[in-house]
Amino acid sequence: MSKKPIGVFDSGIGGLTILKSLRRALPHERLIYFGDTANVPYGGKSKQAVTHLSMAVARFLESRDVKLIVVACNTASAQALGSLRKQLNVPVMGVIEPGAQCAVQSTRNHKIAVLGTQGTVESKAYLKAIQKRAPQTDVFQKACPLFVPLAEEGFANKPAAELIAREYLSPVQKSGADTVILGCTHYPILKDLIVRIMGPQVHLVDSADTLAQAVKLFLQEHHLAATTGKGGLKLYSSDAPKKFTASAQKVLGEQIPQTVLKKLNA
Ligand code: DGL
Repeated sequence: MSKKPIGVFDSGIGGLTILKSLRRALPHERLIYFGDTANVPYGGKSKQAVTHLSMAVARFLESRDVKLIVVACNTASAQALGSLRKQLNVPVMGVIEPGAQCAVQSTRNHKIAVLGTQGTVESKAYLKAIQKRAPQTDVFQKACPLFVPLAEEGFANKPAAELIAREYLSPVQKSGADTVILGCTHYPILKDLIVRIMGPQVHLVDSADTLAQAVKLFLQEHHLAATTGKGGLKLYSSDAPKKFTASAQKVLGEQIPQTVLKKLNA
């Protein structure tokens, strides 16, 4: 069982930041990543649509005989995790719980802000996960939909990104939160800008490393961890595989195999 691969998916390239952390934390594991580039973005879609797409991706990963599925997309974790867990025969982990846990441990003034897509914010998944652990915590949520295209276009250091970020973050600053969850796979790309606006006293929670540690612990506890071998990587995307390989190469910073095109049965 421990020799089986781990399946990881996201709506597109964003989850590659999580894949990178998983590679670092679990060097012996074989990882299969699926980027649903034909259907990105998930962030503004209905819960029903996100669940439908997530299920199609997860079914494909399940057919690759994975031992665990990691939902490396905040929107899919927020909206589809329950359905995936109910309908699949493999364990499924999402980004929300580890991120919430990390934020609760970090806050000193019991005020946490969550930045995410429209879907993630509307689901209140982070809010519920935080208040389950620490009921007295104030949670301020803010949807920042324009952050995704800014990150994808490489606009993180442009004046336009700063203007938009100031607009989005102004109410977040007023909320007084001392901890901010980057509740979307793309936001770590804008981390420097967010730190500059929010100030160095605010702690940013980036779910990638937190999730990787949670996955490591889960595998150990369930005797599923691969402890030898050089690991491996297989990439699939539902559209534009060449472009996907180029993005993955940039994010992962290592030599990677060509992405295989896999149209979804959705
Ligand atoms: N991966 C998505 C998330 O983390 C962001 C991109 C999208 O909207 O699909 O919520």
